[in-house]
Amino acid sequence: MEKNQLIIDYCEYDSVEQMPADMRELMHQAMLAAQAAYAPYSHFHVGAAVRLADGTIVTGSNQENIAYPSGLCAERVALFSASAQKPNQAVMMLAVVGLNGGNYCEASPCGACRQVMAEYENRYGNQLTILCYLQDGRVRCISGLKNLLPFGFEASL
Ligand code: THU
Repeated sequence: MEKNQLIIDYCEYDSVEQMPADMRELMHQAMLAAQAAYAPYSHFHVGAAVRLADGTIVTGSNQENIAYPSGLCAERVALFSASAQKPNQAVMMLAVVGLNGGNYCEASPCGACRQVMAEYENRYGNQLTILCYLQDGRVRCISGLKNLLPFGFEASL
């Protein structure tokens, strides 16, 4: 038996304004996207924005359904939309933010969205950087799915 420990690397910015311009722009786009969410059941609006290798930004918001599991998270709406529109452009960065009662708030990607992010890292062969808006206006920055979904599903099919 061997006992191991895992180190998760991430950094945090004090505010959106403190981030480098490309990150700031992406978070602002995620904030705008959150306003287009369709969330009549949870009333929790989420916006996501992805930046592709050619600089294109594709946004998404959560889309709910009366048959609850048929809805989709903002992150996957943005990622699937980006992949459908620009299949040959690697996904470089993703920003996500919640919008609750008119205030921006924390939204950390769910497990299923992390699995989808891991898929695109493997597909394009580059690290994905994830920006998560936090409760107090701070932003967490995580580079590489190994820091967001350690021991994720992998198989040689
Ligand atoms: N949701 C997202 O869009 N992204 C997340 O990271 C977590 C949850 C959505 C799903 C659902 O429409 C609502 O937020 C409440 O769970």
